[in-house]
Amino acid sequence: MTGTETVEPELQALIRYIQENRGVDFRGYKKSSLRRRILRRMEDVGIEGFGAYHAFLEKHAGEFPELLNTVLINVTSFFRDTEAWDALRTQVVPRLRERAGTDGHLRIWSVGCATGEEPYSLAMAFAEVFGADVCNRLKIYATDLDEDALRTARHATYAPRDVEGVPPELLAKYFDRTPNHYVFQRELRKCVIFGRHNVVHDAPIIRIDLLVCRNLLIYLETETQNQVLPRLHYALAEDGLSSSARRRPSWRGRGCSRRST
Ligand SMILES: C[S@@+](CC[C@H](N)C(=O)[O-])C[C@H]1O[C@@H](n2cnc3c(N)ncnc32)[C@H](O)[C@@H]1O
Repeated sequence: MTGTETVEPELQALIRYIQENRGVDFRGYKKSSLRRRILRRMEDVGIEGFGAYHAFLEKHAGEFPELLNTVLINVTSFFRDTEAWDALRTQVVPRLRERAGTDGHLRIWSVGCATGEEPYSLAMAFAEVFGADVCNRLKIYATDLDEDALRTARHATYAPRDVEGVPPELLAKYFDRTPNHYVFQRELRKCVIFGRHNVVHDAPIIRIDLLVCRNLLIYLETETQNQVLPRLHYALAEDGLSSSARRRPSWRGRGCSRRST
């Protein structure tokens, strides 16, 4: 088990069981937050003790997706953290627009995209500049570890409270209204390619012009973050830009050639 936090043997055994039998490796995640999340799920099903919960998990096939939903925090929203999106709109989109020229293409990667709000926000931000042609010019790869979240993302159907962060003019332009929901426009959805990808273990998508990895690395131990960051760096094209959520939004260039990494 990586990391310096002390982990009780029952929790260690549970994490090992999940890795060996369910193919999800939580060893590089911060143990304090992992413990808190698992305890929350145990409370929901009325079980005390990691050992007893381990036995429950082995016996009940439907429990694993529920646990995964609790542990992988899918909290997200459209245009989350306004300041960062303002910086993207004013500094990043024009720069990439200029780089793409009149017929170039851009590749964007939303890492840990949860239920789709982040990649769809990116699609809207770029559509505002590229216009109707945007899906011929732009591919947004949107990946996550959580299949359930990806299913919701592909469905692209959101409750009114989910779209509160979308400016009214963009809501009117890029969403279709049904009696109870807002559905992200089919045409613009064509820019976004969803897929399951584990940023800790899977090979990165490459030649990326803009990489967005926000509110994910915070769940990983420092050691694991240090394994992931070079992979994300490797994903970037020459002059590609990246952002991870920090207190002050910052967009950094790749800064060196792939050969030198
Ligand atoms: C808090 S959400 C952030 C969503 C979005 N990026 C945002 O900032 O609003 C974190 C997401 O990271 C995903 N995640 C956690 N570990 C992951 C991993 N190893 N590889 C890929 N995605 C992961 C979770 O499933 C979850 O959907």
